[in-house]
Amino acid sequence: MDLNLKTKFALVTGGSHGIGLATAKALAAEGCNVAICARQEDRIRSAVAALKATGCQAIGIPADVLIPADIERVMKTVIAAWGALHILINNVGGGGRWGKPSIEETTEDVWIDVYNKNAMAAVRFIRRVLPYMRKQKWGRVVTVTSICGREGGGRPWFNMAKSAEISLMKCLSMSKELVRDGLTFNSIAPGAIMIPGTGWDAERKKDLAGFEKMIDALPLGRLGTPEEVAHVIAFLCSDKAGWVNGACITVDGGESRSF
Ligand SMILES: NC(=O)c1ccc[n+]([C@@H]2O[C@H](COP(=O)([O-])OP(=O)(O)OC[C@H]3O[C@@H](n4cnc5c(N)ncnc54)[C@H](OP(=O)(O)O)[C@@H]3O)[C@@H](O)[C@H]2O)c1
Repeated sequence: MDLNLKTKFALVTGGSHGIGLATAKALAAEGCNVAICARQEDRIRSAVAALKATGCQAIGIPADVLIPADIERVMKTVIAAWGALHILINNVGGGGRWGKPSIEETTEDVWIDVYNKNAMAAVRFIRRVLPYMRKQKWGRVVTVTSICGREGGGRPWFNMAKSAEISLMKCLSMSKELVRDGLTFNSIAPGAIMIPGTGWDAERKKDLAGFEKMIDALPLGRLGTPEEVAHVIAFLCSDKAGWVNGACITVDGGESRSF
């Protein structure tokens, strides 16, 4: 299937690692030009090199999405280079293991930090990309949330922030003035994804027996890969997904209990 992204310009937040990097690569493989932002410059450099190797234009911008001025700078850099932005992937997020197991022991700062890293970072990027997407009468915004945003079970500050992202995308998808300008807004809710060096990999190293028990309880008996999430995101960014708007698509191998 040709997703016809060769004339498009995309920004993937947190595009230097994990689901973000896999998404940046999936878009680049479709001929899309991709900008990424993240904090660690060495990982940005190697991601940009991998993207450029596909023949697309790629830009890497060091930035911390918790700092609004950094978000402003990311947008200025992308627009100065390309003058347009068609696709925004709000991928930076996390905090599912932040805080303490009990709500009484977890400070308010944790709630605020997790909300800022997930929902508010998405809000800030979206507010800045909308004028460009509306002017060009075409845009795709995909926000990477989590199955934790759709059902109970995790740490509440994380579930709450991920639910807020789904809610944000749904509300925007119902704004006639936005979507009749050719924009769509969707969420992706991944289940547990194995990414070397991050959360689940650390759990595996800490307690192999506990990790294997958790894996065995999953319908497919394994964790997902970043690429399995990225391919769904790439499809949502195409014209072929023009009728998919306001959806929250679960990509979890059957892990979650909600419909
Ligand atoms: N992995 C899972 O099992 C899973 C499951 C459900 C949902 N998700 C969601 O998927 C998204 C991506 O997670 P992931 O597991 O792929 O993460 P990851 O492998 O840790 O990658 C995170 C990316 O975001 C960047 N980043 C982190 N904090 C940042 C900040 N403050 N400012 C700018 N960039 C930042 C990282 O680069 P730097 O560190 O260099 O900044 C990296 O490029 C998150 O929204 C997460 O909640 C993940």
